[in-house]
Amino acid sequence: MLDLKREIAEILAKLLEDMDVEQIYGMLEQPPSPEMGDLAFPCFKLSRIFRKPPADIARELANKIPISRYIERVEPVSGYLNFFFKRSAVISDVLKQVLTERESFGSSWEGKGKTIVVDYSAPNIAKPFHIGHLLSTIIGHSLCRIFKFLGYNVVGINHLGDWGTQFGKLIAAYRRWGSRERVERDQIKELMDLYVRFHEEAEKDPSLEDEGRNWFARLEKGDREALELWQWFKNISLEEFKRVYRILGIEFDSYAGESFYVDKVWDVVEELRSKNLLKESEGARIVDLEPYGMPPFLILKKDGSTLYATRDIAAALYRKKAYDFHKCVYVVGATQILHFRQWIKVIELMGYRWAKDIVHVPFGTVSLEGKKLATRKGQVVLLEDLLTEAVKKTLEIIEEKNPGMENKNEVARQVGVGAVIFSHLYSSRIKDISFSWEEALNFDGETGPYVQYTHARTCSVLQKAGYTPGNSFDAGLLDTKEEYELAMALYRFPEKVREASGEYEPSVITRYLVEVAQAFNRFYHEHPILVEDEALRAARLALVDAARIVLSNGLWLIGLTSPERI
Ligand code: ARG
Repeated sequence: MLDLKREIAEILAKLLEDMDVEQIYGMLEQPPSPEMGDLAFPCFKLSRIFRKPPADIARELANKIPISRYIERVEPVSGYLNFFFKRSAVISDVLKQVLTERESFGSSWEGKGKTIVVDYSAPNIAKPFHIGHLLSTIIGHSLCRIFKFLGYNVVGINHLGDWGTQFGKLIAAYRRWGSRERVERDQIKELMDLYVRFHEEAEKDPSLEDEGRNWFARLEKGDREALELWQWFKNISLEEFKRVYRILGIEFDSYAGESFYVDKVWDVVEELRSKNLLKESEGARIVDLEPYGMPPFLILKKDGSTLYATRDIAAALYRKKAYDFHKCVYVVGATQILHFRQWIKVIELMGYRWAKDIVHVPFGTVSLEGKKLATRKGQVVLLEDLLTEAVKKTLEIIEEKNPGMENKNEVARQVGVGAVIFSHLYSSRIKDISFSWEEALNFDGETGPYVQYTHARTCSVLQKAGYTPGNSFDAGLLDTKEEYELAMALYRFPEKVREASGEYEPSVITRYLVEVAQAFNRFYHEHPILVEDEALRAARLALVDAARIVLSNGLWLIGLTSPERI
């Protein structure tokens, strides 16, 4: 991989005996504006070591820097040593690399032989699949792709919320007021209504709560009637979830949800007991986490039933055995930060060193036009409705601008769904999102459609030119500012992929794609591509093809497609 920072760090390391390449690498910065050079080395920290003012150090270093393939000149400016690259060499090597590696440009083998488990999406069955689940679903999916791109073996798991007392309540409600026809007709909506009704009636008649608990106890014991109803409700939910996953282009390697661990929790309880970690507290069993500044962690309720938390511990132990993961990554909202800190601590207390390989990747909450999402009050937007609406709007725009377009339904789907994903992966994940229809369906500015459209533009230029990859070209002809800035943007892609992976942050790619699209469009508007001069034309087409490759690879990483025509 072409790594200009490393080239420069190596040159500096030879001049600075007290420092190694890694240290220097970490200090090199990108200057705030291109006039200040392509990379800057701040000399302030060195001033203590050398007992000289930073400006003197920068000046002395500047005199010693040898001229090399990538360095045209250096300039000491108030304590910084600014490097200016030899543009033709950089552009030539960047393009050569992108155009030979193509679909794999930006990828690497850092993950070879290692497995990363990604636990994401994980909606609760018998509840509507709404925009509150969007972030986990698309952040998790993008992380899966980023890790795969870096050579990891990835296992995507949908840890469905398919177990717990709420299903006892739902069964009780169904047996009292439900009917097979209504559930078959209205599916999740009817299940939700039954669940809401249960809570309303239980306020008047608290004995209902016991009835619900009773049914859950029967479910945990494997009672046939309870299990059959539960399985039926689960199938109904899965059908709806899978419809949405299909629209989003997402597939999971496993749907082992909470119920998968029901028979595995008892070993956990036993293990905790034998390791002296289990304590009794008011009839329940807990792990005391006070020494670590956290509230007690509930393992078994008073009535002996297990919890979400217990199943998370069982799941981690199971996954370590089944996949021998290098990392197990959980894409779950920030509201569960404490829950994750607690159970990861418990794993550590159990003596498992791999507790450090469990990573919680939290994200902000989604509210609806400023108000909290509330399933029971109907204050939600279904994911399926949002996606359908986005596709519909895209189709309307296509009908207006390009009615003769081939397969417009498919393109509308790719662009509409892409717009929703892109806008939700644009901010850093921890930021709260206030969902508004207007914003979700705004396709102007720094959006998915803009980037996809730019990609389609690269395709149409190449097609018009009858371009075939692999022709030789003279990169030295690409000597304008716009061409250089576009090439530098392309050059940064591998670094951005690593950054996104290291920070578990797809937004790094999303924002980067906007940068590339903008750099491409500036180039496109300033410089004609299909010029008479054949040599110049060949060089510019190579640059266009390289931009196309990076846009397409990057869009794939955040879960979008790159249609050739829009
Ligand atoms: N079903 C849970 C919820 O909706 C998320 C589960 C996340 N995964 C996990 N292993 N805890 O809050």
